[in-house]
Amino acid sequence: MKVPDQIKQEVNDLRREINHHNRLYYTFDSPEIPDADYDALFVRLQELEQSYDLVTPDSPTQRVGSEPLTQFSQITHEQAMLSLDKVFNEQELEDFEARIKKRLGSEAGIEYSCEPKVDGVAVSLLYRDGLLERAATRGDGITGEDITHNVRTSQSVPLKLDVSGMRGRLEVRGEIYLGKAGFARLNARAEAQGSKVFVNPRNTAAGAVRQLDSRNTARVPLQMYCYSIGITDDIAMPARLSEVFALLDSWGLPVNPDRSTEQGMQGCLKYCLDLLDKRNALDYEIDGAVLKVNDLEIQSELGQNARTPRWAMAYKFPAEEKSTRVLDVEFQVGRTGTITPVARLDPVFVGGVTVSNTTLHNMDEVERLGLRIGDMVIVRRAGDVIPKVVRVITPEKNKKPGIIEVPSACPACGSSVEKEGEVLYKCSGGIICPAQRKESIKHFASRSAMDIEGLGDKLVELMVDAGLINNVADVFKLTVAQVSALERMGPKSSENLIAAIAGSRKTSLARFLYGLGIREVGEATAQALAQHYGDLQPIIDASAEDHELIADIGPIVAQHIAVFFSNKENLALIEELLVQGVEWEVIEKADNADVLAGQTFVLTGTLEQMSRSESKNQLQALGAKVAGSVSKNTDVVVAGPGAGSKRAKAEELGIKIIDEGEFLSLLDSLSK
Ligand code: IVH
Repeated sequence: MKVPDQIKQEVNDLRREINHHNRLYYTFDSPEIPDADYDALFVRLQELEQSYDLVTPDSPTQRVGSEPLTQFSQITHEQAMLSLDKVFNEQELEDFEARIKKRLGSEAGIEYSCEPKVDGVAVSLLYRDGLLERAATRGDGITGEDITHNVRTSQSVPLKLDVSGMRGRLEVRGEIYLGKAGFARLNARAEAQGSKVFVNPRNTAAGAVRQLDSRNTARVPLQMYCYSIGITDDIAMPARLSEVFALLDSWGLPVNPDRSTEQGMQGCLKYCLDLLDKRNALDYEIDGAVLKVNDLEIQSELGQNARTPRWAMAYKFPAEEKSTRVLDVEFQVGRTGTITPVARLDPVFVGGVTVSNTTLHNMDEVERLGLRIGDMVIVRRAGDVIPKVVRVITPEKNKKPGIIEVPSACPACGSSVEKEGEVLYKCSGGIICPAQRKESIKHFASRSAMDIEGLGDKLVELMVDAGLINNVADVFKLTVAQVSALERMGPKSSENLIAAIAGSRKTSLARFLYGLGIREVGEATAQALAQHYGDLQPIIDASAEDHELIADIGPIVAQHIAVFFSNKENLALIEELLVQGVEWEVIEKADNADVLAGQTFVLTGTLEQMSRSESKNQLQALGAKVAGSVSKNTDVVVAGPGAGSKRAKAEELGIKIIDEGEFLSLLDSLSK
């Protein structure tokens, strides 16, 4: 079809105009035109592209997502994607600058590029001849995943750079994030549709970039700020980072408008404090500031440690705190009957999530806080940590009467509540208590235990309330007909659930043990028990003293394990589970399973040939203990490149230090 020049021109103009408005809207949060006008431009462009067959991959209309992939492909970063060292106070910032000056051997003043540390997901964008060719996650810094299909849906990432005649590759790195407003819109929609609301912007962004089906990603208004350049083919770069930002900006790449160039650490500190002040007013979440030496030549002179550049530093903000009112204190019954006080709060947005209830842990904590219902309190939340009530701010004289007391009867089953030890209160109902039953089934089905896909908390509650299941063995007796009779369960999802339950019968001994919910037996202890005994019967037959022989199992946990397996009801339940077909492979104990027994290893620095977790597994399989820090009880430190304080400590204590090569030959010699 012959397309009139005038139409071609209009399409080009529309694309330029739409890209311009996208940028104002998504990068600068300052639209120039109303949404309706924008929509009209967009619809006109779509019409012209369709009628004249003018669709090209770089058109702003091509961001709606495409057919799902079956898996992500791996990509290798030609230049490693580094991480940042972090500091928490002014002194540590001064130390950072002192180290730089010492290394440069000069006292000359240093200029810094200061930027918000955006709380999102690090990505690499690769442009070839000015067109977006590939986007990848950071992964472990060396290998990431190809997420081009998802990143293309973000309006703030240009599909084509606004520059003519650029040849070769240009890699730009930055943070993909979800703005606070976008997050609120997304959740409003989810709520209106009755679907699950998202917890916080960061997790939502991380989930969105890792979708196989980019149509799901397209529903999330992801944004991006670019913060560095990776590989380039002969594309001239300016001498300073601040100038690089200006250049990226001129090409249409999104750069953070809240960045600034500052002189010396005093300038940086002022920037950090100003940023902290306006933190809540920003439309994106940040967890600190990043300070980078501005001069690129000095950057390369300073170089890097194993994973972090010496020319940059993250200054982390303190955890966020907000005040709110405690509306009520309720008591929740856990899996083992423990009664925990939970504060119901007037909902408050803190540290990136809306908090409406939070655990008070135990009655000692309630007393320490001096908490009464109706009090104003300070709630703190940092990163992914659960929110915490840190103190009461209502003055004593204004407090309402009525201290918080543990109920004498279990709120779930009415059985008597008994005190155990200093601070614990427990429901004495055991198996008759529906709350305990629900919690133990939820735990059994959870990802780290039997991993029954689709059997979530809500469904378990529904099933227990409907009398369909009373214990974990009942789960295996469920039928499609029973499940599909429940509210909101269609025939397809019921069939899927029954298939998932059937599939979960084949498990591992460690998962099974963890799923039983023995007091204080977490995943690591369950794994240690499975490794040590190999099968269930020897565990049932063993005594508390036997369990204590396992590294990391102390007398209290050993006692809990022994008590659990001497309880008739527990043994009957296990029997029932085996009758229902739950099975695992018996672990053959190797001859060399205890050659390193009694020895403690510490792994530090970068291990290049074997991953940390694999090294740890191999050591544990030989009977060694792997600790996180060096102490006088450490026997051997395995130090890879970049090992720092742990290596120094080992040297100080005269502990044997070996490198990765020696470590691998040690494993080799012992594995024979
Ligand atoms: S620079 C070599 N700048 O923080 C420097 N990182 O802890 C590499 N981040 O993985 C990163 N905002 O995901 C840099 N303005 C910023 C940043 C930023 C957020 C993230 C990034 C990185 C992590 C490092």
